[in-house]
Amino acid sequence: MRIVVTGGCGFIGSNFIRHLVAVRLDAEILNLDALTYAANPLSLAGLESNPRYHFARVDLGEFGPTQSVIRAFAPTHVVHFAAESHVDRSISGPLPFARSNMLGTANLIEAVRGLNAGVRFHHISTDEVFGSLTDDGKFDENTPYDPSSPYSASKAASDFWVRAYAHTFGMDVVITNCSNNYGPYQFPEKLIPLMILNAVGGKALPVYGAGANVRDWLYVQDHCEAILAVLERGRTGETYCVGGDSEMSNLDVVHAICREVARQTGKTTDELTQLIQFVPDRPGHDYRYAIDASKLKSELGWAPKHRFEEGLQETVRFYLEQTEWVNSVTSGAYREWIARHYGS
Ligand code: NAD
Ligand code: TYD
Repeated sequence: MRIVVTGGCGFIGSNFIRHLVAVRLDAEILNLDALTYAANPLSLAGLESNPRYHFARVDLGEFGPTQSVIRAFAPTHVVHFAAESHVDRSISGPLPFARSNMLGTANLIEAVRGLNAGVRFHHISTDEVFGSLTDDGKFDENTPYDPSSPYSASKAASDFWVRAYAHTFGMDVVITNCSNNYGPYQFPEKLIPLMILNAVGGKALPVYGAGANVRDWLYVQDHCEAILAVLERGRTGETYCVGGDSEMSNLDVVHAICREVARQTGKTTDELTQLIQFVPDRPGHDYRYAIDASKLKSELGWAPKHRFEEGLQETVRFYLEQTEWVNSVTSGAYREWIARHYGS
């Protein structure tokens, strides 16, 4: 297996590379990443000396450099994580999402097509392409696309693009659409790491609207196992939905974080829940996401192994213990985003 992983310095990509190194001892890995604000090479600390691990700094928005590294490495497999991934940033500045998620995917798959070999292309997508649910029902592989944020629209466009390459050029493409992930190495702009670090630091916990929006949380290690199963055994041309069977309102998630941070730090749950502040809602905020992952479970035997409480314990422990990693991401650019987005 010669595998290109794009976006390997991001949250899920770095967890996936660590997983791959541990379980596929013969895999030769090329991590292709532009190193945007969301990347952190420290997430892969220790791997630099591994002879099976290689890194190339490439912006997928540029075709020439993308094509050169893909040609030189000659992969058998490509797992495409690289993307702008934060909905709030897609609202305050949508264009990088068009460039990285749409043009970047188009450049990458065109470069892979040029290899003219049976390379498996695994496109990592999101459940947000399906739009928003009411209180009933779940997304599955037959749910029509109805994206509502610039982020989810850019992901939907890229999903259609890779499907078109499978249909038109006969490329070996698989797609996974996954629910919200949480776990170690997530950039603290997303709900769970933001709330953990703010709770630890005694800062406000900003809940959008009434905190009633619902997400289906999946521990990142479980997602990595699902990706490897689909990469190696998924049927060509197929889409697989991945979810954690763990639906919670945002307010319930924040309360769970307060309890867990209190447990691990000796603070009281009460002093942490008093930090909760209800702030103006996100424009166009999707109400609910939920995934029916039965296809993945029945075809490939995958199931999530971590209950939310267990995954959260591991996640809080990571953010408390890995101070070097935390300090490296909560630098000037991060503080600027927090000030710009949340005000005082
Ligand atoms: P992330 O923001 O943590 O990391 C993204 C990585 O992609 C970064 O290392 C960044 O440098 C790189 N990147 C961005 N633009 C690039 C470009 N033009 N060229 C090369 N590299 C570029 O993202 P994540 O949360 O790890 O998400 C990874 C993938 O999984 C994304 O495609 C996202 O849509 C999808 N996804 C994420 C979630 C989630 O909950 N985080 C859920 C479902 C699907
Ligand atoms: P997020 O982690 O940004 O993921 P996504 O928008 O892709 O689902 O947000 C998860 C939920 O948490 C979402 O409903 C928005 C909400 N949220 C807050 O209430 N406050 C915050 O500060 C953030 C970042 C998110």
